[in-house]
This record gives sequence, C-alpha cells and structure tokens, in this order.
Amino acid sequence: MLTDAHLHQAAAIFGTPLYVYDAAELDAALERVRDAFTDARIWYAIKANPNLTILRRMQAAGLGFECVSPGEMARAEKVGAAGEQILVNGPAKSDAEYEAGARLGATFILDRPSEVALLPPGSKVLIRINPGLDVSTHDHLATGAAGSKFGIRPDDLSATMQALRQADHSLRGLHLHIGSSVRDPADFGAAFARIADLRAVTGALEVLDVGGGWGLDADLHGIAARARAAAAAFGAQLWVEPGRYLVARAGMLLTRVMGSKSTGRDFTLLDAGMTELLRPMLYGAEHPVRALWHAEGSLVSDLAGPACESGDLLGRDVSLPAGAVRGDLLAVLDAGAYAAAMSSNYLTRPRPAEALWDAQEWALIRRREGVEEIWAAEE
Ligand code: LLP
Repeated sequence: MLTDAHLHQAAAIFGTPLYVYDAAELDAALERVRDAFTDARIWYAIKANPNLTILRRMQAAGLGFECVSPGEMARAEKVGAAGEQILVNGPAKSDAEYEAGARLGATFILDRPSEVALLPPGSKVLIRINPGLDVSTHDHLATGAAGSKFGIRPDDLSATMQALRQADHSLRGLHLHIGSSVRDPADFGAAFARIADLRAVTGALEVLDVGGGWGLDADLHGIAARARAAAAAFGAQLWVEPGRYLVARAGMLLTRVMGSKSTGRDFTLLDAGMTELLRPMLYGAEHPVRALWHAEGSLVSDLAGPACESGDLLGRDVSLPAGAVRGDLLAVLDAGAYAAAMSSNYLTRPRPAEALWDAQEWALIRRREGVEEIWAAEE
C-alpha cells in the first residue's frame, strides 16, 4: 500500500504528472487471477500497459503475451518471449505482423474468414468467434456485439475450418473476447455457453481462449467456473487474456492542483488531463481519486485538465477535501491500465515519467519525455 509519504516522495523526485505503480499490487492481482483460473494458461494483453519493466515481470512470472500490433510483438520479443508465448491478434493485421508471427512461430487469432488466404504457410490458428450478444459496457468496448468489427459469425465457422484445413494450417481452438470493463458477470456466462454450443461444429479442440474483459470488482471464481465448463465441453485447455485486471489497481496518476475556478460549474484545475488519462473523456469512465491534502469540510467540483477542450475532464462532481491550494497532490486511482498506454503528445505535452515502488524504493521505469523528443521526427 502506497502511503501519502511515498507519493509525496515520488512527486518530489520525479515531478508531476507522474504514473506510479505498486509492485506488490501487481503481484497480488496476478495471484488473484492464478487462484481463480487455476489450470488456465494466462496471456497478458500488452495493450493495457506495455511498459518494458511490467512486461519483464509478466515474462518472469511465466505469462504469455497477446499482441495487436508489430510494436507490441517487438516488445514481447524484446523481453525474451518465444513464439510459443506470443498470440498475434487484430482485425486488420499488416504484412509485418504475419511475417513476424511466422518468424517467431506464434499463434494467430483469425478474425475473418478471408484472412485464411493471408496466413503464412503452416500457421497455428485460433478462430475468433463473434457471439453476437449485448455486452454491458460502453459501446466502444463491446467487442462481442453482433455489430462490432470483431470475429467471425458462428454460421461461418464450419466453412472457415474447412478453408484452414485445405490450406494446411492447424486449428488449435476457438477464441472469444466479448469486451472490456464488462459490468454484468452474466454476460460472460452467456457468451461461454454460446461458444460451447459450437462443439457440434468443431469436435474436440486443444484450446479455448476466452479473452479478458473482467471488471476490477469481478467475481473471478464465478467467471472461471463458467469458462472451465465451456473449455471442458471441447476437452480443451482454458486460456485467458486479462489486461486491465492485472495492472489497473497497481497504478495511479499523480497530479498537482493548479488552482480552482467557477463558471457555470466549479472546477479543480490539474496538471494532468486527457493527454495523460483519456478514459473519462473517451468512455465516460469514472476513476476514484485520493487527495493528499486534508481538511474538515469537502467541496464538490469537476476535475479539469490543462487542455483547451471542454471535455478535458478527469472527473465530474468529485468530492474533495476543501481548501486545495496550488501544488497539492491528487492521485487518480485505477490508472495502471490504459492510462500511460493511451497517453498522447497532443498539445506537444511530453509523456509523463513512470515510477515503480518495489522493494521499499522508487525505480524510474520510464523517464519523462522532453519536447525535443516530440519534434525529433520532424527535423
Ligand atoms: N483480449 C483481447 C482480444 C482484447 O481485445 C482485449 C482488450 C483484451 C484481451 C484485454 O481486455 P481487458 O482485460 O484489459 O479488459 N482502452 C480501453 C480498453 C480497450 C480494450 C481492448 N481490448 C479502456 O481504456 O478501457
């Protein structure tokens, strides 16, 4: 548990805005996953947080990597992952991804029937199924909905399997990922049941990969029991691909109060915003906060970043201790996933540093960018 003193120390050493991570919570999250999904193979979805130090920890813990870009594959390779530890996923893979996957001997996740013709010779394949279900999350995050761009329709499965066979690829199993931050655990059960119905089409399989998407308060044991039952229907080994669950709770975005103001609403102004944490603006995500100043009373305000956009808010109607002054520290919680990963250089804002609290000390795991680095590719 990071104390206020630890966080003050990190801000003093590295400046703000700053992403901080707690190694103990990274380990604890993995333990919770392992405890629930006892015999499953775990693939970390790199997109949630691709920092090399985090990837090295996952690699050392024996996890595989789910990759959705040539860059993510390069990161996996850089931390020493072999082909057997790499899944190549994505709805529109480039030639570079097919080539790298073939070179490494990775397993490809087939996302549409016509992709069979693009696979390198002798590919190992999982077929991604679009179960066509309503998924209880923000529309942008519902990948298992019939209208999403992902996966193949169950009706196309048989022909796709035949095409794979004819082309001499080897089908290892089926893949499913219904969405991210899924609120209703019943959605997983419904999707797993739908996929288990496909046993009649596929026969026994080596693998059933049910993706990730678990909310931070999810009942992992409940989800695991249903996933295990679905895998058993195929006689398959269960694979899972958590991203957020493994890293979100371990991370915070540390930001300093720059001031406050009132227009039609009351605002607390911060030195971090949409460029450091896009999720509130993009998905209406609500991140809890922890103020590092203390006072008797409280004040409700919107948390506004420094960008010249009205939507640049990290929270709405957030209750904070009264009397914040310029320089006070605020920690935005659950920011270990899809925060640094989705940060941008918009407004020529250098990406923040990242620091890891491990073995009772702070380690810098990504240095703060300089503005020269942002324009280096333009000179
Ligand atoms: N597997 C596949 C095939 C995925 O597409 C994803 C996430 C995951 C696993 C990991 O899902 P997780 O366990 O992290 O929910 N930027 C969004 C999240 C996008 C997730 C995309 N795919 C956010 O900030 O919430």
